[in-house]
Amino acid sequence: MKTMPLYDIARSVAENAAKGPIFDEKIPERTKHKPVDFLGFSLHSRIGVAAGPLLNAKWVSLASQLGWDLLIYRTIRNRLHLGFPPPNIVYVERMGDHRVKILAEPPLSLADCSVTVSFDSPSPSQLELLEDINKAKGALQKGQVLVVPVVGDSVNDFVSAALLAKEAGAHIIEANYTSFYMSSDQVFEYTRKLSAALGTVPLIVKVGHFANHAQMEQILIAAAKGGAQALSGILPVPMEVVNDKGQCAFGEKRKTAGIAGGTIRPTALHFVRDAARIIQKEKLELTLLGCGGILLPAHFDLFFEAGADVALSGTGFLWDPYLASKYHG
Ligand SMILES: Cc1cc2nc3c(=O)[nH]c(=O)nc-3n(C[C@H](O)[C@H](O)[C@H](O)COP(=O)(O)O)c2cc1C
Repeated sequence: MKTMPLYDIARSVAENAAKGPIFDEKIPERTKHKPVDFLGFSLHSRIGVAAGPLLNAKWVSLASQLGWDLLIYRTIRNRLHLGFPPPNIVYVERMGDHRVKILAEPPLSLADCSVTVSFDSPSPSQLELLEDINKAKGALQKGQVLVVPVVGDSVNDFVSAALLAKEAGAHIIEANYTSFYMSSDQVFEYTRKLSAALGTVPLIVKVGHFANHAQMEQILIAAAKGGAQALSGILPVPMEVVNDKGQCAFGEKRKTAGIAGGTIRPTALHFVRDAARIIQKEKLELTLLGCGGILLPAHFDLFFEAGADVALSGTGFLWDPYLASKYHG
């Protein structure tokens, strides 16, 4: 894989936040586009970085210069949270529907790159976030938009994290519903409370994939009724992670991890196609953001053709910082 990872997978998130991103190559020239409307903001192009990799203002600033126009910050909480120690990102290959095996070496081609996302959403303190989110916003260029994703252990946690992000200057808030996105009651309740608290600041709801189409329909309707303006998917797909001997790679307490990258692209495209159909059929006012396995420039178009309004990359951004500029041409 002839690429330059921005993130040192041997180190902790805190170290990567403090020392990264690792990049001293040329910054490409900004290409011209016809801006598009995105939730009331003028967006230079329809591509962005998915939640997670942009660890602080330094990371946002680099992504902005590299041609990523929708900048989604790391997911924050309403208080300091350390999350899991490394390993957090490990190269993996698929062994079946629900299982992956860890790889000692990166795959030969970027198109096959799949990784674990095993962090437990670490978050800096409120004071640090207030200052850094504001700095990140200051680093944006014309036509770029800053989204801050939030997570918590209760609806009150979500709301207070979202208000913190709003106070710090986030243009848009994203709610990460990893632990309950399949419950229409919870999706409705959390979305309603968040959108009421946020007022004019738009809300994106982020969900994972669905095995059941009827259930997916209910969730999208619940999100729209609750007041969300956009839907984003997919979250990393949970799978069992094993080593060469078939044993749990991260120990008994962390048997599964979310999987991102190439291996989840078919599932992500399926999600986007289904979501676009449901939005049209039910006449829901939801803008659609798609991500999952965008690793090569041509992959962005697969997501647009499937019905995404905006296409995002997490793993692809980390392993090929020029991915956006290659797409822009
Ligand atoms: C290093 C890394 C960290 C991530 N952290 C988060 C996160 O904090 N919150 C979140 O909603 N998704 C997180 N994700 C998931 C991505 O936003 C995205 O949903 C998923 O990785 C699929 O896209 P990809 O295949 O382009 O990486 C993370 C992904 C990666 C690779």
